Amino acid sequence: MPALKNRKNLLVLGVGNMGGAIVKGVLATNALPNWDLTLVDPNPSVAKTLEGDERITYFSELPEGSKFDCALLAIKPQQSATTLPLIARHLSQESFVISIMAGRSIQSITEDLGNSDLGNSDLGNSLPIIRAMPNLPIQIGLGATAIHGSDHVTPEQLVLTKDLFSASGTVTVVASEDLIDVATAIIGSGPGFIFHLLAAAHEQAVEFGFAPEEAKQVLCQVVKGAVSLYEQSAHTLPELETQVKSPGGTTAAGLASLESNDIQGNIKLCLKMAYERAVQLKT
Ligand SMILES: NC(=O)c1ccc[n+]([C@@H]2O[C@H](COP(=O)([O-])OP(=O)(O)OC[C@H]3O[C@@H](n4cnc5c(N)ncnc54)[C@H](OP(=O)(O)O)[C@@H]3O)[C@@H](O)[C@H]2O)c1
Repeated sequence: MPALKNRKNLLVLGVGNMGGAIVKGVLATNALPNWDLTLVDPNPSVAKTLEGDERITYFSELPEGSKFDCALLAIKPQQSATTLPLIARHLSQESFVISIMAGRSIQSITEDLGNSDLGNSDLGNSLPIIRAMPNLPIQIGLGATAIHGSDHVTPEQLVLTKDLFSASGTVTVVASEDLIDVATAIIGSGPGFIFHLLAAAHEQAVEFGFAPEEAKQVLCQVVKGAVSLYEQSAHTLPELETQVKSPGGTTAAGLASLESNDIQGNIKLCLKMAYERAVQLKT
């Protein structure tokens, strides 16, 4: 029993892009030192690469009779309704659940876990559940994750969740579950929007004559430099923009085109549409 050894057991259900990246972050930073990690995924491709670490055990399906102190749900949202009833009997009243599934509310996760005909009615409706919304750059330790816990979550469980995601980036505790849907648009989908905008800049730089690799190098540095300057500066974004722009200059010419096409309005609309979709998809 993990409790007797004073070690805890974290079930990672789904070890794909995100689940695998979260585990890699934990191993790379030696986070959660008192926890062993049980990885469960029918597809061994990512989990097998992590098995060398002594804290990791991999199974293609939930091992009979196992109990977990915490379950991290990193399966696809559409797999929730069929999979969660199966894990309920591997949890106890002392366990808690962290879900990164987009669009699966605390309410629906509670219901899916409670749909067990396999005998764990003890769990009831009071199982602590934390929703987390990370993004793909957790793969390189530069993720952003927002987290929010149900009323039953203890401060210790929240701290553990922060430690889990801090291993691969920054963590922001948000005040309501609705802000997790907002985070789905801004954080989860955010890299997709940035890639889309950068693709246009890359295409134009190549059309101008840069080699593709040169365009990549230059654009990455421009974005990194601008972001780091913003991060370290006491100036607001409009103030920084003014520092680049001189009257009648090149920046002003380019910005005039962005303004006449209401690019800022469109970017706000993009985030609103993504948020609305997150709310629509939520069950
Ligand atoms: N990708 C993002 O940028 C992002 C950002 C924020 C949140 N999320 C959320 O993260 C979650 C995972 O996304 P992902 O991109 O990591 O997906 P993924 O790469 O497809 O990983 C999901 C893994 O779960 C496995 N799986 C399927 N059924 C299972 C079961 N019954 N038990 C255990 N494992 C099972 C899948 O195996 P098979 O491949 O064999 O089906 C797959 O390896 C999603 O809920 C998504 O909403 C993703």
